[in-house]
Amino acid sequence: MRKAMRKTMPEAKLGGQFTFPGTSLTVQRIGYGAMQLAGPGAWGPPKDPDGAIAVLREAVAAGVNHIDTADYYGPHITNQIIRKALHPYPSELVIVTKLGAVRPPDKSWRPAISPQELAAGVHDNLRNLGLDALDIVNYRAMGAIHGPADESIAEQMTVLADLRREGLIRNIGLSNVTAAQVAEAQAITGIVCVQNNYNLAQRRDDALIDDLARQGIPYVPFFPLGGFTPLQSSTLSEVAGRLGANPMQVALAWLLHRSPNILLIPGTSSVAHLRENLAAGQLTLSPQILAELGGIAAADVAH
Ligand SMILES: NC(=O)c1ccc[n+]([C@@H]2O[C@H](COP(=O)([O-])OP(=O)(O)OC[C@H]3O[C@@H](n4cnc5c(N)ncnc54)[C@H](OP(=O)(O)O)[C@@H]3O)[C@@H](O)[C@H]2O)c1
Repeated sequence: MRKAMRKTMPEAKLGGQFTFPGTSLTVQRIGYGAMQLAGPGAWGPPKDPDGAIAVLREAVAAGVNHIDTADYYGPHITNQIIRKALHPYPSELVIVTKLGAVRPPDKSWRPAISPQELAAGVHDNLRNLGLDALDIVNYRAMGAIHGPADESIAEQMTVLADLRREGLIRNIGLSNVTAAQVAEAQAITGIVCVQNNYNLAQRRDDALIDDLARQGIPYVPFFPLGGFTPLQSSTLSEVAGRLGANPMQVALAWLLHRSPNILLIPGTSSVAHLRENLAAGQLTLSPQILAELGGIAAADVAH
């Protein structure tokens, strides 16, 4: 039903398309991550609220139809900016949000994983985004920002599956999880995407990406450019120079080449950087360049 309403996009644009498994949600492979739209450290309002709105509108005008967010960015502020910039939303836009954390006044990131906290998180997202139901909700297991902890997430998956039955959530994904946690979740409910920390220098999930590809499940790297400390590598800079591109574009193009199930959500607060990032889909990397870039993680990369 919804698919019929969606505008068709040229296959090759923004890295081509991918459909979340078992859904009619088809997105371009290059999307946008909204965390950088809040103030520094994903806290408080942005310095330039009009600039934040301009980034979102430019992304959607360029064909981006996959936006990643969380109500704990700001907190609440990022979702409110998305609503102000884009509501009523285009029918083809897929907003993916996350549950599992809150930001107390000390600006820390605290787990919020009880049934009551998860339900409250859904309602916060619905209210601040101005939606009746959330297309995709990732359960963000806390662990640490740079690595998941292998603890059971069965209780939280059961709560999310109940919220889906109530109609508040349409699809469930996972974030910051191990392969064992993915398997545990899949025994309880269908999983439509996995969002973990992965980039040219952080390759811990190589085997998981390949396994998800075999299952037709998208892998969505967070920190695709290195996150709060963008990637720095002499190999990356040198390759970018040879290609007449900038290093961030090459880092994104490498992810697109790495596996067809990788979807990108690079974050930026800058329209100029957004344009650069969207153009990464036009870069073709030769097998020789891919081999050079593939060696970066093994080298001692400043990241
Ligand atoms: N699931 C999770 O736990 C989790 C954790 C973190 C993030 N996320 C999601 O993943 C998304 C992406 O991660 P991220 O935003 O933290 O990190 P990122 O995309 O790896 O990098 C963002 C950083 O790179 C800079 N940047 C972006 N494009 C650039 C360009 N073309 N040239 C130079 N610098 C550029 C940005 O600064 P400017 O603003 O100056 O461009 C910002 O400092 C987030 O927005 C969020 O939606 C999820």
